[in-house]
Amino acid sequence: MRNRMQDKVVIVTGGSSGLGRATAELMIAEGARVVIVDIDSQKGNGVAAEIGAEFIRVDVGQRSEVDKLVDDVVTRFGSLDVMCNNAGAIAMVPLVDTTDAEFDRMVAVNLGGVFYGTRAAARVMTKQGHGVIVNTASNGGSSPSEGMAVYCGTKAAVVAMSKSSAIELAPKGVRVNTISPGTMLTGMVPDVEGIVDVLDKLQPVGYAAQPSEMAAGILYLASDDAAYVTGHDLVVDGGATAGRAAVGV
Ligand SMILES: NC(=O)c1ccc[n+]([C@@H]2O[C@H](COP(=O)([O-])OP(=O)(O)OC[C@H]3O[C@@H](n4cnc5c(N)ncnc54)[C@H](O)[C@@H]3O)[C@@H](O)[C@H]2O)c1
Repeated sequence: MRNRMQDKVVIVTGGSSGLGRATAELMIAEGARVVIVDIDSQKGNGVAAEIGAEFIRVDVGQRSEVDKLVDDVVTRFGSLDVMCNNAGAIAMVPLVDTTDAEFDRMVAVNLGGVFYGTRAAARVMTKQGHGVIVNTASNGGSSPSEGMAVYCGTKAAVVAMSKSSAIELAPKGVRVNTISPGTMLTGMVPDVEGIVDVLDKLQPVGYAAQPSEMAAGILYLASDDAAYVTGHDLVVDGGATAGRAAVGV
């Protein structure tokens, strides 16, 4: 490790599992002070104790809770250096069967949560004159999958919103980027027998990713290694959306 996050104050939403947890662990290994945030308190408290983070229970789909989170972290730690808006919700369901409740939840968490987190962090970071925001999108935002219309729509919106924010905040010393993961073996993978084999075969690299492989991308975007990188969507998907496989070659 290169202490790339030494003493940085970092918030990671959705930090109780999957990519959020892997990101929090990597940030801590690089010297950061990390607050993980999740709607699941039991898991969040357990993970925080295990990896050496703080835990705050927040529903990122609730504006007032996200504003309070950022206020509390700044009061407690004195600054906010990195905001990772990573929490996400998915329903894999045909368009015509998608319920209003599923639509509302994905929009509230995936788009609302990222917006509230980006705005609250930007208000603090522009005053500080520095800060980095990394938002988790998905390769489904640019290359959508069947049965995920709303999910993919929210992720495309996250990329566009982050790019627009990046242009606005760049003169104020704040960088905003997205990571677009491909298929990762996390809590979002449906619990269906044999699914990991199927997912492995769908990836040009031959396997579905572990969350740590995405966390490395988030660390890069958050670190000074990416000091000149803003408004970028970093696709980390083992080649899944590079193009179509050839037939008959
Ligand atoms: N797993 C994949 O294949 C994949 C692919 C592309 C993008 N992503 C994105 O990666 C991000 C992380 O997902 P993951 O794969 O680690 O899944 P995960 O289910 O393991 O983690 C998501 C976390 O978000 C939390 N969460 C959900 N709703 C919340 C809310 N309202 N407030 C606070 N926390 C909430 C969950 O409790 C959970 O801990 C998500 O944005 C997801 O859309 C995942």
